[in-house]
Amino acid sequence: MPPKRAASDEDDGPTIPQLPQKKHFRQRAHANPFVDHQLTYPVRPSDKVWSDLEGYPKLFEPGKKVVEFVDVGCGYGGLLTTLSPLFPSKLILGMEIRPLVEQYVAQRIQALRAQNSDKKPDEPDSFQNISVMRMNAMKFLPNFFEKAQLEKLFFLFPDPHFKKKKHKARIITPQLVAEYAYILKPGGVVYTVTDVKELHEWMVKHLDAHPLFERLTQQEMDADPCVDPVMNGTEEAKKVDRNGGTKFIMCYRRLEKSRIVEGEWKGFTPLFGENDAEDAEGGEGDE
Ligand SMILES: C[S@@+](CC[C@H](N)C(=O)[O-])C[C@H]1O[C@@H](n2cnc3c(N)ncnc32)[C@H](O)[C@@H]1O
Repeated sequence: MPPKRAASDEDDGPTIPQLPQKKHFRQRAHANPFVDHQLTYPVRPSDKVWSDLEGYPKLFEPGKKVVEFVDVGCGYGGLLTTLSPLFPSKLILGMEIRPLVEQYVAQRIQALRAQNSDKKPDEPDSFQNISVMRMNAMKFLPNFFEKAQLEKLFFLFPDPHFKKKKHKARIITPQLVAEYAYILKPGGVVYTVTDVKELHEWMVKHLDAHPLFERLTQQEMDADPCVDPVMNGTEEAKKVDRNGGTKFIMCYRRLEKSRIVEGEWKGFTPLFGENDAEDAEGGEGDE
C-alpha cells in the first residue's frame, strides 16, 4: 500500500484526515434520556436520508442495502470499527446521545474512509459500511427502522443508572424491549454485555419475560462471530479489562412466533408508578 500523506505535510497534494484525538471530545459520562435533546426524527423510516456523506454514500440502496446492525449507545465507536471489516456487506450504525462523543465517532469514520480510499466500498477496511447518528435510542426507534429490518442489536456496557428511581432510564425496559422485538427480524439477535451484575440480572429478567425472545445457548454464543467483538472490542470492554472487572453477557434470538399461547400472556408488571413526574425535570446525571 502506498504511504499515506499526513494532514500536516507541507506539500500541495491532497491531505488525508488524521484520526481525531479523544481528549478533544470528552464529555461527562451520563446524559439524561428524558430531557429534551433538541433532536429531530423522521416521520417514517423512508424519510430518513442514509445516502448522504454522514451515512453510507457508496453503499446504501433503498429497499436493498439498508442498516441491519445497530450499536445502541456506541460511545467512541470501538465496536463499529471492529465489526466493519468482519461484515463488509452489512450496513452498521452506531447511535450515541452525547454530541461530542458522536462527533468524535463521525470524524473517526471519515478519517478511516479517507485513509482507505484505495479500497472498493464493499471491501473489508473501506469503512464505508459504518456510520454514526446522534440519537436518543429511547425515543421513536420505529421512526428510523421498518418492522423486522434489523439483524443485530447491541447493548454494550449501557449506563447502569444504579438508583431505583433512575431504573426507568435504563435502555432495557419492558416498553423498549417491545420496540426492539418490532424492529428485529425473526432470527435476529440482541447482545447485552455489562460489568454490573445487577444490571445484567435486570436485562436478563426483562428479556426473559418477553414472549418474542429466547436466550441463545452457550454453544450458539461460542459459535457467534460477534461475541468476541462485543466482549473485547469496545472502549468500555477494554477499560473493564484494565481494571480487572468481570463481564457478563447474554444474547437473545428474536422468535418468529410468541413462546406463549395467545391469550395466556398477562403482560408486564408496570415498572414505573404514577409519581414519576420528576423525569421531565432532569436531576442526577443531566447534561
Ligand atoms: C458506558 S458507555 C458504553 C459505550 C460503548 N458501548 C462501549 O462499550 O464502549 C454508554 C454509552 O451509551 C450512551 N447512551 C446512553 N443513553 C443513550 C440513549 N438513550 N441513546 C443513545 N445513546 C445513549 C452514552 O452516552 C454512552 O456513550
